[in-house]
Amino acid sequence: MTEIKAAVQIKEAADYIRSRTTVKPEIGLIMGSGLGVLGDHVTDAVTIAYEDIPHFPVSTVEGHAGELLIGKLADRPVVMMRGRFHMYEGYGPELTAFPVRVMKALGADKLIVTNAAGGVNTGFEPGDLMLISDHLNLTGRNPLIGANDDELGVRFPDMSECYSRKFRALARETAEAQGFGVREGVYVGLLGPSYETPAEIRMLRTLGADAVGMSTVSEVIAARHAGIEVLGISCISNMAAGILDQPLSHEEVMETTERVKSRFLGLVLGVIPAL
Ligand code: 6GU
Repeated sequence: MTEIKAAVQIKEAADYIRSRTTVKPEIGLIMGSGLGVLGDHVTDAVTIAYEDIPHFPVSTVEGHAGELLIGKLADRPVVMMRGRFHMYEGYGPELTAFPVRVMKALGADKLIVTNAAGGVNTGFEPGDLMLISDHLNLTGRNPLIGANDDELGVRFPDMSECYSRKFRALARETAEAQGFGVREGVYVGLLGPSYETPAEIRMLRTLGADAVGMSTVSEVIAARHAGIEVLGISCISNMAAGILDQPLSHEEVMETTERVKSRFLGLVLGVIPAL
């Protein structure tokens, strides 16, 4: 995608979405595996299948519906991606950035990004919610490669506070008020789709990772480039390889996200009015 073509495509996608709704979203949300349930709480929702949006890729992974919801959540106008694009599906990093840029074009300058992640920190337990304090981009990819469109953001964007300190504090207070604690830590994004080996997990722990997944970092880089303020929440769906004496499976990911659904819903719905 050349820079000019990308700008035109963003505009065409945003124009189409605007033709379907009068809601002007302030907050974007990207829901991870098994966490799309939040979509059921969007009121006055207009649902748009990705395949109907110009230039939108179509997501393929199980547990991702592949639709954009625009409406109100906790009384705030939002745009939600139910289902996201992963690079392991074969999409280039620029395609993971595209929906984020479309959200910005629609007016969203805040983003809540969620994912199911493996616990690397041995003090974590499946079912924990972790506020992402920072990330390690170990995907080997970057959505900003190529000519920079100065209208979208600067050539060399600052990444010192990818995950807003203020939003993290608000989320922590929200959880406390609801009677549960949250973890906080570093998310490492890898390409996938194979899970890591025990040796890789030991390496990642040494590098400072607390949780590991296959999404989020590329979207957040695009968001920061666009000047979007980000809240990141990982649902620790399982412990990463080599920690417990058991194999990993996508079924476990889905089971755990199902189990922590109500806390997760409470946290996101509770924090939105404060953002
Ligand atoms: Cl252990 N690794 C990765 N890369 N993604 C995950 C995961 C582990 N658990 C859930 N998602």
